[in-house]
Amino acid sequence: MISAKLHTAIVDQINAELWSAYLYLSMSLDAEAKGFKGVANWFYVQWLEEQDHARILMNYLNSRDAKVTLKAIEPVRTEWESVLEMFQETLRHEKVVTGLINNLAAIAAEDRDFASSNMLVWFIDEQVEEEGNARDMIFAAQSIEGDKYGMYQLDKELAARVYKQASPLATSAE
Ligand code: FEO
Repeated sequence: MISAKLHTAIVDQINAELWSAYLYLSMSLDAEAKGFKGVANWFYVQWLEEQDHARILMNYLNSRDAKVTLKAIEPVRTEWESVLEMFQETLRHEKVVTGLINNLAAIAAEDRDFASSNMLVWFIDEQVEEEGNARDMIFAAQSIEGDKYGMYQLDKELAARVYKQASPLATSAE
């Protein structure tokens, strides 16, 4: 059985993942409003991925006979100065999420809850990827600062990002 402490922390993490989803949707809409359709697409994929993260945790709690309860999602910022600033905030935010995931892993280890530890390995790896992606995007946006044609090219590249369902949600039939 999952401990009350870990149960509560995972419910909070579901809320944090949904808040992340909302943050990235807001960035997507701001980018769209500013004419950066590719950037908007990049953040739209991010919004879908964050919903996957929440879903994985919901499925996990359900499988451990622990009820999922939803909390209110706090408002998010709606405007950014630049695309670079969006990616900088993305990295800052993902570092916070990494801390939350590490905290969940620490509770699971303390509980000797090996099933939960195992489930969290995917999230630990995912955070390394998320932070790396954000750093790559900061580098790309910094290298074209002030260059409108460079921004046009980057925007076109980001339009190619495609959503792929998170592997823990994939069914065996796929
Ligand atoms: Fe759910 Fe971006 O971490």
